[in-house]
Amino acid sequence: MIKIPEKLDKFEVYVPGKPIEEAKRELGFERIIKLASNENPFGVSPMAIEAIKNELKNVNLYPDSSSYYLTKKLSGIFSIPHENILVGPGSAVIAKWIASALIEEGDEALTADKTFLIYKIAMQETPGNLIKVPLRNYSYDLEGMLNKITEKTRIIFMANPNNPTGTLIKREEFEEFMERVPDSILVVYDEAYREYVEDRQHPKGEEYLLKYKNLVVLRTFSKAYGLAGMRVGYALFGDVKIKEAVWKVVPPFPVTYLAQLAAIAALDDHEFVRMSYEKNLEGKKYLYSQFKRLGLKYLESNTNFIFALPESDARNIVRKLFNKGIIIRHTRAFGAPEGFRVTVGTMEENREFIKELEEILEEISSNSD
Ligand SMILES: Cc1ncc(COP(=O)(O)O)c(C=O)c1O
Repeated sequence: MIKIPEKLDKFEVYVPGKPIEEAKRELGFERIIKLASNENPFGVSPMAIEAIKNELKNVNLYPDSSSYYLTKKLSGIFSIPHENILVGPGSAVIAKWIASALIEEGDEALTADKTFLIYKIAMQETPGNLIKVPLRNYSYDLEGMLNKITEKTRIIFMANPNNPTGTLIKREEFEEFMERVPDSILVVYDEAYREYVEDRQHPKGEEYLLKYKNLVVLRTFSKAYGLAGMRVGYALFGDVKIKEAVWKVVPPFPVTYLAQLAAIAALDDHEFVRMSYEKNLEGKKYLYSQFKRLGLKYLESNTNFIFALPESDARNIVRKLFNKGIIIRHTRAFGAPEGFRVTVGTMEENREFIKELEEILEEISSNSD
């Protein structure tokens, strides 16, 4: 019999929002609205589609392992050497590679207690430990993180804006933090929602790479570029030596040929990203106003999702919505059982969501009377 290592019993598995097809099968509904995975509801970058539509005939060949042309393009955009850039099948996978390359027995990494769960998953495959620092007012507590640094700390994972809360660390705070973090600790600065940020005080990762060699910036094509199904993201490293170290754990041909081509084209599709930003903003404002009307507490978000804190059991609300064919996310897996996270959808989806949510909240409040 094959022995399954006991350590796997303790592993947390990433449970994604249910795919639409699966939900359809489960519920037998034709209409399913999925607002659970922060995908782009406005489709795919048309330039990306154009770039790949006639390329299927070339997938008999392995892709370029280093995503050479995409890396070159990113190098031009960010004015950093292409050697400092690593492209992977999504930024979550790159976070895992970073942890598995750098963490040794007994090492520690820090992150927030209510944040993107991939950091935890990345660390559980290493012989190190993840220390979670509680958020302050639902935002990363950078002072609290600095206080948790020990001589064992190797990595700090930070999502800005944060998932699931949508909150943002501002420039001044980030700069002070970077000044105070010892340069022996790698700061993994995850900007998955960067294109949706409204706040002008947002610290743009690439602007700090020259100054801080202990910084790596993660970006993705899964959100504003509409390429979640392609699986492609990248990391910009302040120090080429760290990139080279991480590269050692990267499997061959990590990013498909089509994904590389789509990403290259999407980078030029400013119009699509602008449209996605604007429609997201419109949807967000609508949802804020409706949450206010319904008396539902929420946090202002710099992303394409909103974190809400209902007075009654959040899981119950999520379950009831699911039974009506609307999938949102209970945030228990993110360390926040008190809330739910809803992706901003198209206006039609947002309206449907609000309509069903209102009915559910009314039903809950009349049952509790
Ligand atoms: C903070 C954060 N980082 C990374 C990702 C994953 O991006 P990718 O699809 O590039 O793996 C997500 C996706 O939800 C996210 O919320």
